[in-house]
Formats: sequence, structure tokens, C-alpha cells
Amino acid sequence: MSEIDSIRSQVISCVKCSLSKTRTNAVPGKGNPKAEILFIGEAPGRNEDQKGEPFVGSAGKILTEALSSAGLSRDDVYITNVVKCRPPNNRIPLQEEKESCQPYLSKELEIIKPKIICIMGNTAYGSLLNGNSITKNRGKIIEKDGQRYFLTIHPAAVIYNQELKSVLKDDMKTLVETLDRLKKDENPPDNK
Ligand code: URA
Ligand code: SF4
Repeated sequence: MSEIDSIRSQVISCVKCSLSKTRTNAVPGKGNPKAEILFIGEAPGRNEDQKGEPFVGSAGKILTEALSSAGLSRDDVYITNVVKCRPPNNRIPLQEEKESCQPYLSKELEIIKPKIICIMGNTAYGSLLNGNSITKNRGKIIEKDGQRYFLTIHPAAVIYNQELKSVLKDDMKTLVETLDRLKKDENPPDNK
């Protein structure tokens, strides 16, 4: 079994926090294990809980569209969440739930070693970088402990404010451009 499949199967049967009692299915991360960009949302919603896959409901549709506008398909990237089980009524995950689930996210990051982690929304921003206003900080690139992060809004925010659709799309473009620049800096063309 691949390392990522092993995390997957641990998540599927996990009972480390009380969200395991109310979920239908745990939702492990999904996508390319060799992805250069790894996206982190908050927690599964109703559709994700039903299907056992991340971002398959309306927020997922918005994310897929924003990715494709920047030339990315979901198979190019890896998509996961801070907590892998749906909180009742989609409430924000509690501190203890985030802490219980954290080792799975750490493992995903360790295995995939993305060039950039794309933080989507305040829950992921708070959990990974101790940040607290994604609206003020979106579009920024941050480097911490040798890892690069890109900050953007949560795709679900677009459901409540359609004007944010272009913000998300613009951010995806910036993200792809940032990645291209990083790769160029790593492998400068040989001009000899
Ligand atoms: N919102 C999230 O944060 N994650 C999902 O997987 C779906 C909706
Ligand atoms: Fe386990 Fe995470 Fe689900 Fe809690 S949210 S039961 S820690 S997989």
C-alpha cells in the first residue's frame, strides 16, 4: 500500500475525536500524491460526508471552476481539510477536534511535500499559520519553516457573495504564476 493510501485507510476508520460519532463517512484528502500544490479547506460538509470525498458540493464546484480558470485540474493538485469528519450542522471545528486530526494533515504534507500549500479560509489559516483575517491577507505568499504558503478565501464564501468569484479566480492565477516563478528560480535556464 502506498504511504498516502495508508493515511487514507487510517482516516476512514479513525475514532480519535467525537466527530466520528456523527459522521457518515470520514473524508481523507484526495488528488495527485505528487502534487506541487496542496489545498487545505476547513472540514467536510454534507455532500462530502455522504460521498467520503473532499469538495464535492457547491463549494467544490466553485473551487473546480477557479482551478480550471487558472489551467489546473483537480487531478493535478491534492485537496484536503483541517478536519476529516463533518462537524454537526457544519459548525466550525473545535480546538480539540483540530488537534486530534492534525497528525493526518502533517502526514499528508510530509508525504506529498508540496512546493506551495494553498490555505483556503480562516480555519486553515488559523490552524497552520496562527492567522486570523483571511480577507485582509488573501493573495499573500508566506514562507515559514522552509515551507511556502499562499493565502486565499474559502470557496464557500463565493456562495454568499458572488463578487468574490473573481477574487478567487485572480488568486488562483497568482498561485500558478508564483509556482512557475519558483520552479524557474530552482532551475534557471542554462545560458552558456
Ligand atoms: N468545505 C470545506 O472546507 N471542505 C470541504 O471538503 C467541503 C466544503
Ligand atoms: Fe479522526 Fe479527524 Fe475524524 Fe476526528 S475528525 S474522528 S480525528 S479523522
